[in-house]
Amino acid sequence: CGIVGYIGNKEASPILLRGLKRLEYRGYDSAGMAIRTEKGIEKLRRVGRVQNLSLALQSDPLHGTVGISHTRWATHGGVTEENAHPHISSDGMFSLVHNGVIENFSSMRKFLEGKGYTFRSETDSEALVNLIAYHYAKEPEDENGESRFLRSVRKALLHVEGTYGIAVICADYPDVMIGARLGSPLIVGLGKEENFIASDVGALVGATLNVIYLNDGELVELTRDNYQVITADEEWVDAVIHQVDWEVEDSELGDFDHYMLKEIFEQPRALENAMRGRFSQDGSSSKFGGLNIGARELRQVERIVFCGCGTAWHSCLVAEYLIEKYARIPVEVEYASEFRYRNAPLDKDTLIFVVSQSGETIDTLAALREAKRKGYRTLAINNVVGSTIARETDGGIYQHAGPEIGVASTKAFTSQLVLVSMVALHLGRLRDMSFSAGVSFVNTLRELPALVEKTLLVNDQLKEIANRYSQFDDCLFLGRQLMFPVALEGALKLKEISYVHAEGYPAAEMKHGPIALICEECPSVFLVSGGEIFQKTIANMQEVKARKGKVIAIATDDCVIPDGLVDELVVVPAVDDPALPIIMSIPLQLLSYHIAVARGCDVDKPRNLAKSVTVE
Ligand code: G6P
Repeated sequence: CGIVGYIGNKEASPILLRGLKRLEYRGYDSAGMAIRTEKGIEKLRRVGRVQNLSLALQSDPLHGTVGISHTRWATHGGVTEENAHPHISSDGMFSLVHNGVIENFSSMRKFLEGKGYTFRSETDSEALVNLIAYHYAKEPEDENGESRFLRSVRKALLHVEGTYGIAVICADYPDVMIGARLGSPLIVGLGKEENFIASDVGALVGATLNVIYLNDGELVELTRDNYQVITADEEWVDAVIHQVDWEVEDSELGDFDHYMLKEIFEQPRALENAMRGRFSQDGSSSKFGGLNIGARELRQVERIVFCGCGTAWHSCLVAEYLIEKYARIPVEVEYASEFRYRNAPLDKDTLIFVVSQSGETIDTLAALREAKRKGYRTLAINNVVGSTIARETDGGIYQHAGPEIGVASTKAFTSQLVLVSMVALHLGRLRDMSFSAGVSFVNTLRELPALVEKTLLVNDQLKEIANRYSQFDDCLFLGRQLMFPVALEGALKLKEISYVHAEGYPAAEMKHGPIALICEECPSVFLVSGGEIFQKTIANMQEVKARKGKVIAIATDDCVIPDGLVDELVVVPAVDDPALPIIMSIPLQLLSYHIAVARGCDVDKPRNLAKSVTVE
């Protein structure tokens, strides 16, 4: 879910709408806002996109300079207007937007119903807004510099089991807005005579660059020109103000039809930004400013466990191949959600590496915390500066890919790939990789932005292929070695945005089961590169062809594919291993993009998904 709150001297609703549109990738089941108007607190909510709310506001405007808003990814309760946020307490005093899950909401609700509070939705969040009202009714006036409003929110939160990022307004306090977080992200934006609350900095682009990242267990009380941060246990906090470096253009669509396409085409620049300043002066290795772990310690690492979810998990798989090959360190890859509950035995020289574009995915964050609790050294690759994972990891590497708005990850994925290969290089050069091998590795990476630019020229061809294949409902993606994780990512991308059933497999594994799916209506996308496994992959393609399966081959230009074997051939530049997964990813991104467009799907906001999932 996404939250935006505003307190200032301008009309709140257009500002909130702008913020919500920027946060829509966090969920788009319903949207709503509540404004402190002349009449008290009034709200408007709509099922579906922010656009529906925007239209509703045109005929039913809400006027006021203080307000909160929300775009929802449903957890408790179906997608209905009653379940949409904001919720208002049954006495009309408070309105709240919430991101997270309140686990003890049933007992809370029973208790409150006993006290005469009434409920209109099935959500956990409505219990919290009524609990705040309940405390408010009990609290005396402001005391010890703490307002009655703040105290009621603080006391209510002490009873919450679960996670929350919230923004609250109160009819009695027209000049105050309160935010709080525990386990769900929330930031404060500080402007000139206006202040903001938001789930992430994306919502504030163009409004302010000064932000405070709230920590778990902290609340903020905002007026138009002031802020105060306090912990749930009533300690005043000296909050640090950070400067964000995202530009307005970064989050605008420009000439592109979709953010996904824009972000696919931004990859040369995203890769350059990931690499900038990160090669050693002698050109044989890589260096990272924020690892907070020295060469001696890195040489002692005996095992690395990589954790992530979704696309980031695929980056972890590429890390496994590259680090094992170039640094000879055993690597394991875990789904973050499995790792955190599995309690795997690890030895003390194990390093835990988490990968997350948003830095807020709760499963990945929980894996990081579990690893830290057990005393392991943790590192992270993460795109969003100041995210919770970035702040909690022992050391890390920022991707600098700029905001990624399309829900399906593209530039963030390839930027993770370049960084994991640079990690492999760094570790390899600390162990037994030679100087010349290091130099050639670096040169391969340096050529990448230009080669990706060249690879993007296949766009028109992929569009034609997509139009020919868009009617099929099943698809296999097959690749060996380093191209296996790329095949998985290709399948995920197609699934995510075009709802086509797709599976990724190591090409040789196809004959052990998936081959049963092969028929004229189930095309196979093969990733083919030269070298020792080329002939084996050709043999797998023949197995598909023999069963009347259609073959789309994405092949490097050093491959000579036998005549008649493929139905479609997309040629990409031949590159060495560290760059191969990146080059191979480009046509797959374009293929799923054009198939989704041909099928009339909402490319940037696929059904049921959210870009950053901050609930378990
Ligand atoms: C969600 C998104 C995926 C993404 C995953 C991990 O499920 O829909 O596209 O790969 O989260 O996100 P992260 O921000 O941790 O990389």
